[in-house]
Amino acid sequence: MTDAENTLPVYSRDLAGIEVGETQISDVRGDEGSLSYRGHSIDALVDKPFWQVVWLVVTGAWPDPAQEAALRDFMASHSMLTPPELALLRALPRGLHPMLVLQGLVPVLPPGEAGPELAGADATTTTGLRIAAKLPSLVAAWYRLEQGLDPVPADPALAFHENFLQMFTGHAPDAEQVKVLDVAQVLQMEHSYNAGTFAGRVCASTLAPIQSSISASIGTLFGVLHGGADEAALEMARTIGGPERAAAFVADALRQKQKIMGMGHREYKVVDPRARILKPLAKRLCSSGDARQLYETLEAVEAACQTEFAQRGKQIRANVEFYKGAVFNQLGIPSRYFTAVFAMARVYGYIAHFVEFRQDSCLIRPRARYVGTAK
Ligand code: ACO
Repeated sequence: MTDAENTLPVYSRDLAGIEVGETQISDVRGDEGSLSYRGHSIDALVDKPFWQVVWLVVTGAWPDPAQEAALRDFMASHSMLTPPELALLRALPRGLHPMLVLQGLVPVLPPGEAGPELAGADATTTTGLRIAAKLPSLVAAWYRLEQGLDPVPADPALAFHENFLQMFTGHAPDAEQVKVLDVAQVLQMEHSYNAGTFAGRVCASTLAPIQSSISASIGTLFGVLHGGADEAALEMARTIGGPERAAAFVADALRQKQKIMGMGHREYKVVDPRARILKPLAKRLCSSGDARQLYETLEAVEAACQTEFAQRGKQIRANVEFYKGAVFNQLGIPSRYFTAVFAMARVYGYIAHFVEFRQDSCLIRPRARYVGTAK
C-alpha cells in the first residue's frame, strides 16, 4: 500500500484487518458472528465435557476415553500448590491485582520440562498443561489471602471447576454453578490472533520457553481494551445503578468520547457469538434481587448502545465480556477476579498457539519508521 500524496509506504499501527500468519486452531468469522475451534462450532462445543474441548484445542483431535481420563487425572494431580509456591504467594504484597500475580508467578511454577509426560501430548504441551493446572489454585489462594483467610487446598477428587469454586468461595458449589463455569470457560478458551495470543506468539518467535510466552499473553490480556473489559463492564453497570438510568449514561459517555466497556470488537461486526450464548445464561441466573437489577441494567445499556451507535452509523455490538460479569457474579466471583478466571480458560489457547507456532517458527520483528531528527 502507498500513500497517494507523498508515495511513502503506508504502515498499520494497529494491524487491523492484516493477516500476519496462519492457524488451524480457531476460526473467527467477524461478519457472520461465528467462532469454531478446530472446525467445530462453539454452539456445539459448549455441550461437550470440558476436558474433551481442552484436548481438542491443544492437540487438534478429539480424545479417546482413555486420553480424556488421563488428562483429567493429570490436571487434578498438578492442581495442588506446593509449599514453596504458597510461600511465594504469601510473600507478595496484598492489593496486587490477580492478573499481575498470575503474570509474575507463571514463569516460576513448574521446574522446566521435568516430570512425566502426558500420554499423547508432547513435552511442551505437557509443561503448558502443568501451568494451566495450577492457575485456578493460584487465583483462589490469592483471593483467600487478600481476604485475610487461609487458602483452601485443592481436592483432586473433585471436578476441575468444582474444585476451583470450592477453593475460591470456601464452600461446595452446586452442580449448575459448575456446569455454568464449564460453559463460560469453553467460550473463552480460544480466539485466534487476539492481542494476548499474538503477544504469546511473538514471545515464542524468539525461542523463549512456553512459560515466558504464557506470561506475556496474560500480561496482554489484562488491559481493559482486551480481557480487562469484563471487570470494567460490571463495574460500569454497578455505577449506573439501574436500567432506567442506562440511556442517559450511554448518551453522556458517548458525548464525552468514552468507551462503553464490553461493547465492540475488532473482528465482530455483529453480536459476538460468545455473548449470544452468555446472555440467556446470565438472564436465567440473575432472576431475582440485586442480580436481576444488574442484568436488567446491562440489557438496557445494550439497547441504548444499539440506538446510539446506529444513529452514528457504527456497527458496535456486545462482546463476550458484556454479560459474562453477571454470570461470574452469580458464581460468587468478585469483578476484580474476572480477568484472572478468563486467563484460566484462555491458557489452553495460548498453549495450542505456542505449539503451532514453534512447528514452523520464525522471528517476528517488524520495522518502525524513524521520524526523529538526525543530529
Ligand atoms: N464504546 C464507544 N465507542 C466505541 C466502542 C465502545 N465500546 N468501541 C468502538 N467505539 C468507537 C470508537 O470510539 C471509534 O470511534 P471514532 O471512529 O469516532 O473514533 C470507532 O468506534 C472505532 O473504534 P476503535 O477502538 O478504533 O476500533 P477497534 O477495532 O480498535 O475496537 C475495541 C475494538 C478496542 C475492542 C473497542 O471496541 C473497545 O474499546 N471496546 C471496549 C473495550 C472492550 O469491551 N474490550 C473487550 C473486547 S473482547 C476481548 O478482548 C476478549
